[in-house]
Order: sequence, then C-alpha cells, then structure tokens
Amino acid sequence: LYIVNISAEMAPVAKVGGLGDVVSGLSRSLQRKGHLVEIILPKYDCMDYTRIKSLKELDLELHSFFDGQIHKNKVWSGIVEGLPVYFIEPLHPAKFFWRGRFYSEPDDFKRFTYFCRAALEFLLQSGKRPDVIHSHDWHTAVVAPLYWDIYVPLGLDSARLAFTCHNFEYQGAEPAVALASCGLSVRELLRPDRMQDNSFPNKINLLKGGIVFSNVVTTVSPTYAQEVLRPEGGKGLQGTLAQHSRKFYGVLNGIDDEAWNPATDSLLNHQYSADDLSGKEANKQMLRERLGLVTQGDDARRPLVGCITRLVPQKGVHLIRHSIYRTLERGGQFILLGSSPIPHIQHEFEGIARQFENHPQIRLVLKYDEALSHSIYAASDIFVIPSIFEPCGLTQMIAMRYGSIPVVRETGGLADSVFDVDNESIPIEKRNGFSFQSLDEGGLNWALDRAMSYYAQNPDWWEKLVRKAMKIDFSWDVSADQYVDFYNQIVTNVHATRT
Ligand code: ADP
Ligand code: GLC
Repeated sequence: LYIVNISAEMAPVAKVGGLGDVVSGLSRSLQRKGHLVEIILPKYDCMDYTRIKSLKELDLELHSFFDGQIHKNKVWSGIVEGLPVYFIEPLHPAKFFWRGRFYSEPDDFKRFTYFCRAALEFLLQSGKRPDVIHSHDWHTAVVAPLYWDIYVPLGLDSARLAFTCHNFEYQGAEPAVALASCGLSVRELLRPDRMQDNSFPNKINLLKGGIVFSNVVTTVSPTYAQEVLRPEGGKGLQGTLAQHSRKFYGVLNGIDDEAWNPATDSLLNHQYSADDLSGKEANKQMLRERLGLVTQGDDARRPLVGCITRLVPQKGVHLIRHSIYRTLERGGQFILLGSSPIPHIQHEFEGIARQFENHPQIRLVLKYDEALSHSIYAASDIFVIPSIFEPCGLTQMIAMRYGSIPVVRETGGLADSVFDVDNESIPIEKRNGFSFQSLDEGGLNWALDRAMSYYAQNPDWWEKLVRKAMKIDFSWDVSADQYVDFYNQIVTNVHATRT
C-alpha cells in the first residue's frame, strides 16, 4: 500500500508528545512490512534540523488557496530516520510556522487548516496518488472534508481516508466562518450530521469532520474507545461516535522499539538489557550524581521514582505534585521532567522546583529534554503516571522497556497495558506494575506505597519483575497489522466514499 500521513508532529524532529512518537513509530513499522509511507509536515522553524537528512527544496511552485487568495509555498523533502518526509513552508505573511514553537498560538486553527489545504494541493500538483491518506487529531482532521469536497472533483481521487484521534480533549471548534478560509462551504457543513459542534451550534468542529468524513476512524486504545462513548470521555462527540460506531476502533499504540532500546540507546552512558541489568544501576548512579541527589551509604538503596510528562490537567497534575511529597515521606528519591503550556501550572511547578532546589532527594527539571528523558527512563526504578484520563500513554511502555515499573491510574491505554501485581483476577504472567482507580491522594498512596515496599523488602522479586517488564513486546508490530487490515478494508470497499 501507498500511505501518506498528514500530521502536525513527527518524532524526533517535531515532537511535543506521543502523537509525534506514533506517527514515526507506526510509519516505520509499516515501512518495514513493505509499504510505501510518506509523511507531510509543516516546516516549523523550531524543528530539530540536525535529524533531517538530505533536506532540499523541491523544484515545484506550490500555490494554495486561503482566505480568498492564492498563496505561494515552498516544499522541501528530507529523510527522517529512514522515512521520506515533505515539509510545507507557506510564504504567507502571517509566517504560520515561524513562531519558535509548534502549538499554542492564537491562530492555531488558521495555521493548521492552511497546512491541510496546502498538503492536499501538494499531492494533487505533484501527481502523488496514495491509496490511503491518514490524518491525526484536530490539526489535520479537515483533510477529510477538503478531500471529498475540493480535491476529489479536481482529480485527487485515488485515496481512502483514515483518521486517528489521539485525544478528544482538543477538537478544533471555532466560529463557523473560520472554515471558509480554507475554501469549504459553511452552509454545507454547518449541519448536525456534518461538522456542526454538538454543544455550540454556531461553531464548526474539525474533529467531528474527521470522524464523519473519514472511511475508518481509530483511537489509541480499546479502553479509551469505550470511554469516549460516554460524555466524560467523548467531550461532546460521544453521540457522533455512536452514530459512526461501525467504522470506529480502538487500537493500542506501540512504541518504536528501535528508538527506545536500552541495549543500543546511544543517549545512555551504559547500555543494558534484561539479561544484564548492571548498566541500569550505573545509569542510576550517574544521573543522581549529575542532578545532585545524594548517593552515599543508605541513600544508595533509595528507590528512584521518575515522571516525564506534559504538565496539563489530563495528566493528574495534583497527583503528580502529591507523588513528589509522598515519595519523600516514604524515603525515596524523585525526578520530574516536564513542562506546561499553561502558565499557572508552569509557575506552580517552578515554585516547587525552587523549594527543592538543593534538596538531596528531589529534583524537578521543567523543560522539554529528549536526551534527559532517556536517562530518566533508564535510571528510575518506579515511574508514576496518575492521569485523570489517558487515551493511550506511551511513557508506561517506554518505562517498562527500560526496566522502570509503572504506577498508574487505571484509565484508557494505561488500563490496557499495566496490570497490577496484586490483582488476582489477572493471570500472573501478565501482571507488570501497580494501578489504582480513585482520583484522590489515597489511591495513589496505596499504589506507590506498595511499589516502594516491594522494592525495599523484596529485591529478588523486584528484579524478576523488572526483567519481565523489559521483555514485554510493546513494539508496533501487531498494531501496525491492525492498521494494514483497516487500510485494506477501506481501499477495497468501493462504497467507501464520502459519507
Ligand atoms: P502525551 O502525548 O499525552 O504527552 P504520551 O505518554 O503518549 O503522552 O507521550 C509522551 C511522549 O513525550 C513520550 O515520548 C515522553 O517521553 C515525551 N515527553 C513528555 N514530556 C517530555 C519532556 N519534558 N521532555 C522530553 N520528553 C517528554
Ligand atoms: C495523545 C494522548 C496520549 C497518547 C498519544 C499518542 O497525546 O494524550 O495518551 O499516547 O496521543 O497516541
């Protein structure tokens, strides 16, 4: 199959969170299975250009429509870890992707609807005729209505559409007129069965458009696929999903097991594997020294608790904060790596970071740092993820691959990948971590305390758990096959056209 992903993120060049990991990991797995996969991204100024090979401007003048005018774009091609990528650079006066950051700009809606129109225009003008166009999240959801309403009539009609929603919290809902900017008809689309927001009738909802107009719609874990059928999870789109349930599936994400492999990870000082854990201990020692945590005498035996996260309400910010204090109370060490797009949360954690500035057991690093994230996965013994909701979550899988045992709230993809060691209703060979249900501090205490006690009191048992967690197959292999099945179904179904 020939698959084109249109996305706002791709690891490692343009990554904010798990969306970037998924686009790269799934694509690489599909490529290994023999499919042709290409990715179209905005050409952000803040990308990691050192990771793009053979970047060159294409000899193509791409003209695309927006706000009643035709605009010029440059298109660049490059290779990111073996994957062919096209980067769209709008020569638009608003400098849409020249902002020093990927998201959280007041005109994000315009930035990404512009990008989607230009991306389809690129496919049309360059003569590319994929079998599947796969878009992701609200940023590129408008690809679906644009494709059927504008590009199929123009002759870009080879493809069927797959859409993955990684998070129903962000829907891209705006006053309806905004949709006209990219050339779509508000009159046609502002309808309850099309793109009209289910709560605010004068708004259009891009995510809803992705669901209604794509041939197959997925989200990123089976449990989350159930949760979003209820109002708390679907955040207004539960009814739309119920109407489209025959084409809606939950597929658990994988992780890129080449990018995340402690045995070959060049960002680690000491590589290690489930068969030889000595490197893990050495990484722990080094990181603690580097960050100024004490490592002498009895302190050396303290469990190191890690947390790597975007600090947003979804992640259970109050429980993350609490887990720092709880770890301290129970004699552990804690390292948090995270940052927040929300100023009051960022300020709050900056306050906590100052409070613990020279503390011997606690360190908060409040930024995005890819290299440090690898060191923390490798060094930590326990990894906390107390999310209020979590569509999939990749950090629990990465943590396990690096031998760090997860403590998670039982929700979404966390519930599909972490099984409590004390839960007797689950086969013992599947049990791999600690989980809790309630949103208050008591639940977290219960799970984290158990983890710390097992660690302290039963080192041999703990080591076995670590080895077992490291051997679990979280690769994309199986999930990518599920995507291939969906792609094949929509490609061969001649009836799969505009809904
Ligand atoms: P989400 O996409 O909701 O942020 P995921 O668990 O799916 O959550 O993915 C998060 C990804 O982002 C992981 O690869 C994680 O290692 C990475 N990450 C999150 N915060 C940071 C940070 N501050 N520095 C480096 N990597 C981070
Ligand atoms: C979103 C979700 C996260 C998921 C990621 C990749 O960012 O918050 O749970 O793992 O997308 O699908």
